[in-house]
Parts: sequence; C-alpha cells; structure tokens
Amino acid sequence: MSQPNRVSGVSAERLGVYDAIRLRRDVRAEYTGEPIDDDTLWRILDAAHRAPSVGNSQPWDFVVVREAATLRRFADHVAGKRTEFAAALPAERAATFAPIKIEGIVESGTGVVVTHDDRRGGPQVLGRASVPETGVYSTVLAIQNLWLAATAERIGVGWVSFYDPEFLSELVGLPAGIRPVAWLCVGPVREFQQVPDLERFGWRARRSLDEAVHRETFGG
Ligand SMILES: Cc1cc2nc3c(=O)[nH]c(=O)nc-3n(C[C@H](O)[C@H](O)[C@H](O)COP(=O)(O)O)c2cc1C
Repeated sequence: MSQPNRVSGVSAERLGVYDAIRLRRDVRAEYTGEPIDDDTLWRILDAAHRAPSVGNSQPWDFVVVREAATLRRFADHVAGKRTEFAAALPAERAATFAPIKIEGIVESGTGVVVTHDDRRGGPQVLGRASVPETGVYSTVLAIQNLWLAATAERIGVGWVSFYDPEFLSELVGLPAGIRPVAWLCVGPVREFQQVPDLERFGWRARRSLDEAVHRETFGG
C-alpha cells in the first residue's frame, strides 16, 4: 500500500489483518455520506458473528438502523448527552473538548446497535461462573471483529457511547433483558486519520507499548 492512511488510491483488494489493525480509526468526521452497500454490510456482520464467546453463548445481536428519522432522533439525544458532559468539565478541559466531534450518526447513514443478552446460552454458561463479565467481553469481541473487518473493506466505524441505555433500548425496541452495548456508525469514508482524534485535539495521547507490557509481575 503506497498511502496507508488514504482510502482512495489504494488497491481494491481487502487488507490483511495487521494492515487493518494499523489503519483502523474511530471515525467521526470522514464519512462520505454514501450508505454502505448491503453485501459489504453483511460481510462485516458475518465477521462480527464469528467472534469467540464464553461457553459459545454468542450473546450478541445487531440492529441495523437506516431510517433517517431514527438516526436524527438518536443524534439529538447524543447532542444532549454531549452538552451534559461538557457542562461538567473544568474550563480548561471544556475548551479542549469543544472542537472534538463525538459521533457521525446521520452522516454515516447506518447505525448498528450491538446488543447483549446475558441469558443466551442458558443457566450454565461454560466458563462464565467465576467471571460474570466474560459474557459482555464476548459481545465486545464481536464489535472488534466488526471494526477490523470494516476497516479491511475501507469502511469507517465510530463507536458512540454518549446515550442513556433506556433511551436507546426504547428507540430500537429491545425486549426486556437485552441491553445495548454500542451504537456503531458505519459507512464509507474519504480517508482514515493517521492519529486518533482525541490525540490530535490534545485530549489524551496514546501510551507506548513499553509502558503497557510488564514482565512476570505488574511492577516488573
Ligand atoms: C467502549 C468505547 C466507547 C467509545 N465511545 C465513543 C464516543 O461516544 N464518542 C466518540 O467519539 N468516540 C468513542 N470511542 C472511540 C474512542 O475515543 C477511540 O477509540 C480512542 O480515542 C482511540 O482512537 P482510535 O479508535 O481512532 O484509535 C469509544 C471507544 C470505545 C472502545
């Protein structure tokens, strides 16, 4: 790949896994406005659905949202949550936060609400007895599969978590016991940024791998 950060100008073939990991970004501002085509969307949902899961419980579901009115309603709700968050920040952080876009709900044209059902797999989920969170870890792995597969297709994904779960549950008609884990904005992009937005805008930088890797004990 001659221009690893650009979508245009690269070959049409899908990226390998390390390329996709390096290219992946949380996308907010770079959606083209064109909707993702159904075949591509199905391939990335298939990638999500192949994720590992505790006890093979497969506790996820995917609600694909494309109705303009629903996208607008969710975007308005998220705008309200953003205002609440900004109001709670000290002045200096509020100024840093102000130019940061936190969603591309309408522009992406497609939302994928990833949900979690803790009852999936029955009362004895093999492997979940000691660590109950392994259920939701599984759903998050499906999200990561989706994110990387989308990147390999040059499709952008942006994870939105500025919402009240009750609002989103009602918006997409989730039955009792099924909870939303993420709203993912999914759509074609002009380019992938090389540096995460939060780093570019001075909110928080990436840590080095040296800092994250420990030998034998955490203090080691
Ligand atoms: C659980 C989770 C929730 C997130 N929620 C939001 C969000 O509400 N709005 C947003 O703009 N980005 C959100 N992000 C994206 C992160 O800000 C982003 O992953 C991080 O800054 C690193 O950037 P990168 O994904 O481009 O490497 C979320 C990411 C995760 C994993």
